[in-house]
Amino acid sequence: MNMLEIKDLSVHFKSRAGTVHAVEGVNLWLEKGELLGVAGESGCGKTTTTLAIPGLLPQNAFIPKGQILFNGEDLVKKTEKEMEKVRWKQISVIFQGAMNALNPLQTVGKQMMEPILLHEPHVSKKEAEERVKELLEQVGIEKNRFTNYPHEFSGGMRQRVMIAMSLVCDPELVIADEPVTALDVMIQAQILELLKKLVKKYSLSMIMISHDLSVLCELCDKIAIMYAGRVVEYGYAREVFTHPKHPYTVKLLHSLPDIYGEKVFINGIPGYPPSLITPPAGCPFCERCTEKIPECGSRVPELVDLGGGHYAACCRQTEGRAVV
Ligand SMILES: Nc1ncnc2c1ncn2[C@@H]1O[C@H](COP(=O)(O)OP(=O)(O)OP(=O)(O)O)[C@@H](O)[C@H]1O
Ligand SMILES: [Mg+2]
Repeated sequence: MNMLEIKDLSVHFKSRAGTVHAVEGVNLWLEKGELLGVAGESGCGKTTTTLAIPGLLPQNAFIPKGQILFNGEDLVKKTEKEMEKVRWKQISVIFQGAMNALNPLQTVGKQMMEPILLHEPHVSKKEAEERVKELLEQVGIEKNRFTNYPHEFSGGMRQRVMIAMSLVCDPELVIADEPVTALDVMIQAQILELLKKLVKKYSLSMIMISHDLSVLCELCDKIAIMYAGRVVEYGYAREVFTHPKHPYTVKLLHSLPDIYGEKVFINGIPGYPPSLITPPAGCPFCERCTEKIPECGSRVPELVDLGGGHYAACCRQTEGRAVV
């Protein structure tokens, strides 16, 4: 059984300009112990999709349809009180930009103990302190830094603290939203290695968001590519990287610099994503797609199983024609 199964999920926002269709009909799934990468341009709905899982959407968001099955239970139907029991202990989140969100007035150790003391009342302060110190060591920080304040740590170390903090209540699923984006390249690699190590050590499942597709392909078991609120391709990382099936994924991969070869000209994808307030009638990528056929303008393609665990949402695929 899949540990997480998101079925036909839509998340909309009420705004002055109208309803923002930030996530539309998303299907995604994840087995225990798997690392799923989610990629796509800024604004495509990565954060919104993943924040819907632990029920942490902003006030003006609502879920018009869909299910989020976690170990078989639909999280969309749970009350806020029930979700409080799910957060930290079953699902934890490393938020986008989290390393700058530590309280500057409190020691790192104290902040890390808070979720334990709040969610596991039977655990003593001493035990919580021990657990925090052990996790600090697991992320490569000496335990005697327990009493340090956030400003005494570098950016990379603060991010290590946030990673350790996401594990304090021993969750099954960790959502890491752009965990390395704000860090310099050398540190990025170390943090990604650390996340991979922790996934193995604690048998975690993880969803990692990044706009850097090459990073995700290297690290993750599976990849989901999002475009304008929809998942357009999903499959094993290596397969998606070497045999992309959706024209958008192909373009994204072509826009990556070749780090081993000579300097190459990086082609952006001409054009812009469609409006999420008045979404187009057909495929959301249609306007920018060089492979389009007439029906793309009038039909939104579903995510279709192409065999081998590889899925794409493209009118050409469902027509039986190869895209690339
Ligand atoms: N509270 C909100 N109210 C209205 N619209 C919102 C709100 N939060 C997000 N949106 C819109 O929803 C869409 C999806 O946003 P989201 O933050 O999920 O994208 P993202 O893929 O995480 O982008 P990024 O890579 O920049 O983090 C965007 O168009 C965004 O402007
Ligand atoms: Mg985001």
